[in-house]
Amino acid sequence: QVQPVKNVCVVGAGYVGGPTAAILALHNPAVTVEVLDRDPQRIKQWKSPHLPVHEPGLDHLVRVVRDGVESDESDIPRRQRNLYFTSDSARVIAKADIIFMAVNTPTKMFGVGAGCATNMAAFDGAMRDVAAHAKPGAIIVEKSTVPGGTADRVRKMLAAHRPGASFEVLSNPEFLAEGTAIKNLTTPDRVLIGSAATPAGRQAARTLANLYKAWIPADRILETNTWSSELAKLVANAMLAQRISSINSVSAICERTGADVDQVAKAIGMDARIGSQFLKAGLGFGGSCFRKDIASLAYLAESLGLDDVAMYWRQVNIMNERQRDRFARKVIERFEGNLVGHKLAILGFAFKKNTGDTRESLAVEVIRLLLDERPAEITIFDPYCRQEDIMRELGPGVAEMGTVKVHSDPYLACSQAHAILVVTDCDQFRNTATKKSSWSISDQSTHTSSSDCMDFQPTSQSGTNETIEWPRIAYNMVEPKWVFDGRGLLDVVELKKLGVRVDRVGRRT
Ligand code: UGA
Repeated sequence: QVQPVKNVCVVGAGYVGGPTAAILALHNPAVTVEVLDRDPQRIKQWKSPHLPVHEPGLDHLVRVVRDGVESDESDIPRRQRNLYFTSDSARVIAKADIIFMAVNTPTKMFGVGAGCATNMAAFDGAMRDVAAHAKPGAIIVEKSTVPGGTADRVRKMLAAHRPGASFEVLSNPEFLAEGTAIKNLTTPDRVLIGSAATPAGRQAARTLANLYKAWIPADRILETNTWSSELAKLVANAMLAQRISSINSVSAICERTGADVDQVAKAIGMDARIGSQFLKAGLGFGGSCFRKDIASLAYLAESLGLDDVAMYWRQVNIMNERQRDRFARKVIERFEGNLVGHKLAILGFAFKKNTGDTRESLAVEVIRLLLDERPAEITIFDPYCRQEDIMRELGPGVAEMGTVKVHSDPYLACSQAHAILVVTDCDQFRNTATKKSSWSISDQSTHTSSSDCMDFQPTSQSGTNETIEWPRIAYNMVEPKWVFDGRGLLDVVELKKLGVRVDRVGRRT
């Protein structure tokens, strides 16, 4: 038996909350989904044509459920309008049958557990609102990644704030990845629901499962206890990150021997027990999840007195940091320790392709290390990141130096560069793209000024799928014309034909 659900509230209009709310609304047209955020500016953006989150497919999805635009999916009602964005917390919390907590849970940077523990300030703040206004019987769902044991803590908090009222607390971690959020939400590998091992807990789990069953096969919905669910989320990310650190450690060996890391990855990935995913060597993992979740897992182990376990997982993060250091040092070595007077261009700032998210950008540490060498200029181009986000991420010290400039045009960013560093795995940066360019080498002289540049969108959330033209980039570089491929994205043989020197991660060049 399941409880009827008419109103759902999603607290936190971020990368998880927004897309999750939209997909829930799409597949449950009889349910009103309201997304709540205390930042009115963010809510305003979600209500506007320019969403604060760039995700392939999200704009269209939001137009369908927020604006009532016709859906092109055959199994979806032609018109529906059941997704709303608001800052009016008391009202939406009070009427919700299910409340998803999807607020930010970053790493705590102060006090006990600084750098490892989870900063629960935003989560607890939002929970206080929920405790004050939720109607008795409401189901509270942890969507944010939280430390193990949070559901127990929330239960106690609710009991203290609302004695006499009963609530069920579920853990329903999100496994979507940025850049593929809509695809992951539409066809998830699994949906995990942790509940209290009581009849009421299991009934709440079934009520939540029922919302998902609107589009997800029942056998993909896994029910566990809350601790298992909370821990599984951390461990899933830790295991994925561990694979990346493992292959990156191998890339260091490859760079000093004759082995090629991509060939090694392919060979081991064909073993069905290992599998081929998350074996791409690069600059390490960025983004807001892996580093933080490993820190949280290690902190949990340490707090349980399991120091060896904590040390084991911490090494994954250490290896990740070393990979970036190694890359920056390699650039410096190629210039024989002297970057003074040189221009370096960075292609890509987001932590991965198809997103404008600058958090935990892999470029930040690389740029900081390079700036220590006092280059003349560092330019940055990213098809999706906004200039203000990039400069904020680099920190005020960097902005004030005036050495770093963000360009909305890749050709301008790379013009007169002594070296280009490919930092993000954007398909736009590949030199083996299928798209044929009408531009030819003989045209070079006419394409040197910025006004002649290809019509790239300004660096913004809108982005571009246009592939950059390497012949044009190479022609406008200056000696020694180094291209450092930090993502193993480029065809080295083809690139070298353009008269540039290439250094590629995981390969001796
Ligand atoms: C990750 C997980 O993949 C999601 O399942 C999870 O839900 C999410 O964290 C979260 O906890 O919210 P995300 O960080 O968005 O998703 O992106 P990933 O695709 O996992 O990439 C993370 C980083 O690893 C990126 O910098 C990426 O470029 C890098 N990476 C990934 C590699 O260097 N090599 C690979 O083979 C794969």
